[in-house]
Amino acid sequence: MSTHIFLTLLLFSLCFMVSFSHTLNNGFSVELIHRDSPKSPFYQATENKYQRIVNAVRRSINFANHFNKDSLTNTPRSTVIPDKDAYLMTYSVGTPPFKLYGFVDTGSDIVWFQCEPCKKCYNQTTPIFNPSKSSSYKNIPCSSKLCPSYTSCNDQNSCQYSVTYVDESYSQGDLSVETFTLESTTGLPVSFPKTVIGCGTNNTMTSSQGARASSGIVGLGDGPLSLITQLGSSIDRKFSYCLLPYESNTTSKLNFGDVAVVSGDGVVSTPIVIKFAFYVLTLEGFSIGNKRIDIRGSSMDVEGNMMIDSGTTLTFLPSDVYANLKSAIVESVKLERADDPNHALDLCYSVTSDGYNFPLITAHFKGADVKLYSGGTFVPIADDIICWAFFSSDDLGPIFGNLAQQNLLVGYDLKQKIVSFKSMDCSKV
Ligand SMILES: *[C@@H]1O[C@H](CO)[C@@H](O)[C@H](O)[C@H]1NC(C)=O
Ligand SMILES: *[C@@H]1O[C@H](CO)[C@@H](O)[C@H](O)[C@H]1NC(C)=O
Ligand SMILES: *[C@@H]1O[C@H](CO)[C@@H](O)[C@H](O)[C@H]1NC(C)=O
Repeated sequence: MSTHIFLTLLLFSLCFMVSFSHTLNNGFSVELIHRDSPKSPFYQATENKYQRIVNAVRRSINFANHFNKDSLTNTPRSTVIPDKDAYLMTYSVGTPPFKLYGFVDTGSDIVWFQCEPCKKCYNQTTPIFNPSKSSSYKNIPCSSKLCPSYTSCNDQNSCQYSVTYVDESYSQGDLSVETFTLESTTGLPVSFPKTVIGCGTNNTMTSSQGARASSGIVGLGDGPLSLITQLGSSIDRKFSYCLLPYESNTTSKLNFGDVAVVSGDGVVSTPIVIKFAFYVLTLEGFSIGNKRIDIRGSSMDVEGNMMIDSGTTLTFLPSDVYANLKSAIVESVKLERADDPNHALDLCYSVTSDGYNFPLITAHFKGADVKLYSGGTFVPIADDIICWAFFSSDDLGPIFGNLAQQNLLVGYDLKQKIVSFKSMDCSKV
């Protein structure tokens, strides 16, 4: 993309932000809804807590199996997101506001949702947005500076976007400007007029069946059309989240602006390397209890070697690194091995009493030793079985997934290009 387009968007953001600054003094937060939690349109009251984890794991692996590595190398813009359907947020578009659910994706750089009239839409359980009913909706003409060079033009001279994901899901349609409204957790709506959005009239979601209840994707990646870039100066290019364990009854939060700053005792920070729209960190090793496993000499021994992603459930590692970690765990855990009845995860244990302490896993990112919450690294998948929630894949990843990020406040500061971590009980923020 050209710098020119980027600057235009930035200036554009600056102009419309001014009038909203009073509501945004300290930033704001929105709810981040796990797709299987009670506030989600996917919620199945009959599912128990094990099924929720089992289903999430299965989706994650299903994605890995659909992953088409060639599409990633051939088309850098086909960004792409491992089972991008873990967390949802609600937002409204248009005038009057029309409520939608979007999958939040730190690996995607555009906000798109299904739009009428559909040429081809997937089955969405909530109503589909109809731009003809909104007074603030405008297609972007191809001649506009807002129409990026990688787009195409239709016979009405309207800018057409197209995104393809590595699992071969895609969305195509009009690139448009529309009022985008977030409902802050304080109950105050925060509106952003003239946000560039993709109004998708030709969409599929391949690997995840459940994706169908969502309207589309809210990209929080780094790119000119991502929500973070478009909210721009008003949030100082900062956002954070704190992901709750699945069994929690409260909702996780996604914070923007000043409230997203991760500060205080125990904060550690590591540089971000941006690859395509992804946020990539540099992992130097793991510790299993006190035993350190260095990645030096392994297939991950490069700068910028692990994507951090809120949408991916499991943590994916290449087979050599995975094998080293696995043997350290096998050495350390004194429990009887068990088989995963779902044949998904390969290191599981029989747990007969509650009291067993699994070893603490520490991720050593460059400059940041991050202690991982053990309830997210070793997950219960049945009454008496707990499994290690990492997965070996030489095609997909490496990815630092959302189970491993539970009970961590994770802050992205795109100005300083760092990600900060702080261990905490996410139900208390
Ligand atoms: C929808 O997009 C797909 C993928 O690019 C394309 O093959 C198909 O022809 C499009 N369908 C319509 C109705 O435009
Ligand atoms: C679409 O979803 C609804 C609600 O879940 C369901 O009743 C309907 O059968 C689905 N239609 C198709 C074509 O999948
Ligand atoms: C969550 O809610 C359920 C039902 O309301 C309750 O039984 C359970 O104890 C609650 N769990 C937590 C962690 O608060």
